[in-house]
Amino acid sequence: PRVRSVRVAARGSDGVVAMAVQAPELEEKARAELKALYEKTPCMPIMVRLAWHDAGTYRAATNTGGANASIRYGPEIAHGANAGLKIAIDLLEPIKAKVPEMSYADLFQLASVVGIEFGGGPKIPFKMGRKDATEEECTEDGRLPDATQGMKHLREVFYGMGLDDKEILLLSGAHTFGRAHSDRSGFEDKPWTKKPLDFDNTYFVELLANNDPSLLRLVSDEALMSEEELLGLVKLYAEDKEAFFKDYSAAHVKLSELGCSL
Ligand code: HEM
Repeated sequence: PRVRSVRVAARGSDGVVAMAVQAPELEEKARAELKALYEKTPCMPIMVRLAWHDAGTYRAATNTGGANASIRYGPEIAHGANAGLKIAIDLLEPIKAKVPEMSYADLFQLASVVGIEFGGGPKIPFKMGRKDATEEECTEDGRLPDATQGMKHLREVFYGMGLDDKEILLLSGAHTFGRAHSDRSGFEDKPWTKKPLDFDNTYFVELLANNDPSLLRLVSDEALMSEEELLGLVKLYAEDKEAFFKDYSAAHVKLSELGCSL
């Protein structure tokens, strides 16, 4: 593994800049803390949503937004799309206090990657070094996708991030995890799969089967079957979990580094 160091930003009252901490040690410590959290509280899905909503504000045209933890500030966490995500940030604060040298932006993305692995999903490669935004860098509301719309809208949003059709479909596969909460998004309190704490390819299996009214299907999920080429990919990933894990990992890495030069 690459050995890099992360500089402690804060200068103590004695004027001495704290010692550099080795990045791999810091990452290991944070990973252990996150696993301990997930053993106690199975909050992995909301962490994946937090990391995605932080990164997904990226717009290539203006090189603004991205995985910079701007979501933790008042103006951005208040966006409708982020309803409920304060819960995730609050769960991470005690961990941040134990690894103060790690940026919030890295911690949010690491919480997602460790959550997916904890749920039985792929081991997604992870690099540290994201910088935390200032409050002034919060993005305006409306950059995240609307679940009541189809491919035209999804394309506008994801293409703006620099992601393509296959990546839209792969990343939507993260809905294999978690569920909707009527008091957050307003959608029915249903999961997409029967085992919402398992990260696997059953999102695609259930999407195709379409035979269980206890499971959720958003318009944006249905949209992934609205075109032949996309439907072919849904079928592929429904049949081949390993192919999904491999391709999902690559798309997830890209999402988790939007707007960052690592
Ligand atoms: C949950 C919409 C893409 C990960 C949700 C919810 C909605 C939604 C409405 C329910 C939130 C709640 O009520 O708690 C969308 C739309 C997308 C999209 C329209 C456009 C394609 C993604 C992506 C990821 C993701 C790209 C991650 C890579 C999740 C997870 C949850 C979730 C893990 C469950 C959260 C929980 O259980 O607390 N999404 N999403 N979504 N989303 Fe998405």
